[in-house]
Amino acid sequence: MQTYLFVFIVSFLCIHNQNCLPCHSEQDNSDYAVNCTATIYAGENCSDSFLFGQYEDLYEQLYWSEKPDDLMLKPIQLEYSDSNNLYPGFFVEIKPPRSASIKDVKGFQFNYQEEGNVKKCVIIILSNASLDHNHRENNLKLVVKLWPMHGGKNFLFTAWSLPKPPEDESGGNQTRYGKTGKYGLGLTDGSADWVTTLSYHNDVKDRYIRVWFLHALDRYSFSEYMVTLEMIISGEDTSEEHRNVIEEIKISKADYTFINVKQGRYRVFVQPYDDKWNSLNDCRCKSELGRGCTQCVKTMTAVIVVPRSEDVVMTSELQSSTASTSQSQKTAAETDQTINHVLPTVLGFVAFLLVVVIIVGCYLLHKERDQSKLQHKQPEPTKNNICRPNIFLTESTNVNDDDASINIIFHPPSEIRSEDLSLGNLMDQVYQVNADYLPGNDKNEIPSHEFCQ
Ligand SMILES: *[C@@H]1O[C@H](CO)[C@@H](O)[C@H](O)[C@H]1NC(C)=O
Ligand SMILES: *[C@@H]1O[C@H](CO)[C@@H](O)[C@H](O)[C@H]1NC(C)=O
Ligand SMILES: *[C@@H]1O[C@H](CO)[C@@H](O)[C@H](O)[C@H]1NC(C)=O
Ligand SMILES: *[C@@H]1O[C@H](CO)[C@@H](O)[C@H](O)[C@H]1NC(C)=O
Repeated sequence: MQTYLFVFIVSFLCIHNQNCLPCHSEQDNSDYAVNCTATIYAGENCSDSFLFGQYEDLYEQLYWSEKPDDLMLKPIQLEYSDSNNLYPGFFVEIKPPRSASIKDVKGFQFNYQEEGNVKKCVIIILSNASLDHNHRENNLKLVVKLWPMHGGKNFLFTAWSLPKPPEDESGGNQTRYGKTGKYGLGLTDGSADWVTTLSYHNDVKDRYIRVWFLHALDRYSFSEYMVTLEMIISGEDTSEEHRNVIEEIKISKADYTFINVKQGRYRVFVQPYDDKWNSLNDCRCKSELGRGCTQCVKTMTAVIVVPRSEDVVMTSELQSSTASTSQSQKTAAETDQTINHVLPTVLGFVAFLLVVVIIVGCYLLHKERDQSKLQHKQPEPTKNNICRPNIFLTESTNVNDDDASINIIFHPPSEIRSEDLSLGNLMDQVYQVNADYLPGNDKNEIPSHEFCQ
């Protein structure tokens, strides 16, 4: 009887709360850990006016927070519940602003859009925490796990602090790009077919392009990777695309920064390096385990646009002037924080009970759904995930990613194709790249049934 009661309460909360993603904080000193919740919305529900209805003190406010100090997409490629298949995704890591305005930050929003797909947004709320210099000095960051995601796709991520700046405010966001590796890559696939998941940052102000990627599985025994920056000369996005190699480097770490990048249109490539490519049997890039030698797949980014430096100087001056105005507004608007600390302990106890109920309920719900979904071995890309209060995550920090992923529930595709699917929101750097006809493509084959229809 009690079980049903719990499930009832929790499923109500989960529906009400739409969809939750795993969220936790990372920091040098665990005294400064914060709890967070991450909720995902899609399509028109990502508008400020809709979100104002959900979080009324965080949207359409007179005063807003400075942009996050950093946004980082940490590529991951994890096995889905002993299926022997790897799926790509990202840990999205957000650092609060470094200035005194860290005090005003109540959460973060990040949007992401996959080419040709509906815009998604994730709202991260810091529960019962106000940030200060201690959090900053201990390198606090909020981490949301977005996994699994479609393979071979280009993504654009944009992040804001909450309260969020108005939609037309420029310079209030951080942007990063991502490219996912193979969807459902079999652990038995040949080493040559392994495709990295990568993320990159195009810093137009300081004129560098930084790329982070994922090393291949140990069993493929690659130790080095070729990372290449190529400038597009002509025929962009056609089979005739002609490019010049600007810089090529062989590295063993998993990130690299191209500096002093001049104006132009570029792509970055990452390819495992086969140090024994010319030996008969010892090569590392094999089409199938134990079979012949071939070339390893090269992962290619979307087009990266580096503007003229004159254009950048103008915009960044504009940005810094607007930033300082909104900051001074904020100081004037600093509210009396003490009110927040007078919450009666009784309320705290009730909240604690509620938390317990949520944890137990979510767990039972998961179990139940897990069982009913057992026949679905293929995970659906992140959109309707679990409702898991992050407390659960903090208390089981020793659980590794693979174990943790077992708790994830995958719903059947239920996404409504939004009418306002506006590709215009994707910056023009992100192109639909047809993997079939571009040279140096990543050979990704994605069965159509894996897409949301
Ligand atoms: C986060 O939640 C856990 C479990 O309820 C609690 O013990 C911890 O004090 C919370 N941390 C903060 C900073 O509120
Ligand atoms: C937007 O939210 C409403 C409920 O608030 C929901 O019914 C609708 O499906 C959501 N739309 C999208 C595109 O997710
Ligand atoms: C969380 O809330 C409790 C009770 O209201 C309060 O005592 C505590 O200081 C809060 N923690 C933070 C980090 O704000
Ligand atoms: C993010 O900021 C840039 C630079 O100020 C601006 O051009 C862009 O429109 C902003 N993006 C979004 C989605 O608001």
